[in-house]
Amino acid sequence: MSLKNIITEHDTMADLIRQDYNILPVISRFGIPLGVGNKDIAHICNQAGVNTKLFLMVVNLILSSHADVSDIIDDDVLKIVDFLHNSHTYFLDYKFPHIRQNLQNALDPTHVDINPAIMQFFDDYVEQVKLHFAYEENTVFPYVRSLVKGENSNYNIGIFRKHHDEVADRLTELKNIILLYYTTTTPDKMYDALVDIFNCEADLESHAQIENNILVPAIANIENRG
Ligand SMILES: [Fe+2]
Ligand SMILES: [Fe+2]
Repeated sequence: MSLKNIITEHDTMADLIRQDYNILPVISRFGIPLGVGNKDIAHICNQAGVNTKLFLMVVNLILSSHADVSDIIDDDVLKIVDFLHNSHTYFLDYKFPHIRQNLQNALDPTHVDINPAIMQFFDDYVEQVKLHFAYEENTVFPYVRSLVKGENSNYNIGIFRKHHDEVADRLTELKNIILLYYTTTTPDKMYDALVDIFNCEADLESHAQIENNILVPAIANIENRG
């Protein structure tokens, strides 16, 4: 993305959403309500009590795969952790149960042989993601909070960077299995379930990008400073 395409606080929130609807879950996770009118991003963020700089950093990372964390302050890092935590809750409590329900409803009753395998694949996937999120919630986020407080620790963000795997990969696999091999006489429901999986896949990739390209370098800066 060229510099002229970078979103600034003067762009309207509505234009941003029109540019890429994958931004919608991000807006919701920041706690920004819809009904954005033609107001600019700075106005909407101020109204919702959201840090405009962080909002733009996340949005531009998703749109351009680039983030500059050099002027991030400690308080911003805590806000990023809160944002990531809210995302975990959203995936586990809302998105995965929603996909599971739609997937279950979309299965063709004539495929009694493979339907249980599809549901099992999805359930196993969710269990893996739960472990991934639990490590971040129980190890990484507490470390970040204690680092910001100036406390000593045996942990460092390099450990996380090395072991941070891609949670979206197995979802991509499930999507491909259905897309390539699952024949059905009532495809509409399965199309719906697939669109949900496509959205969730993009959302999980953005989530990992925020962890890898904002959280990790921001924490590395604090570690180096200390
Ligand atoms: Fe995460
Ligand atoms: Fe992660």
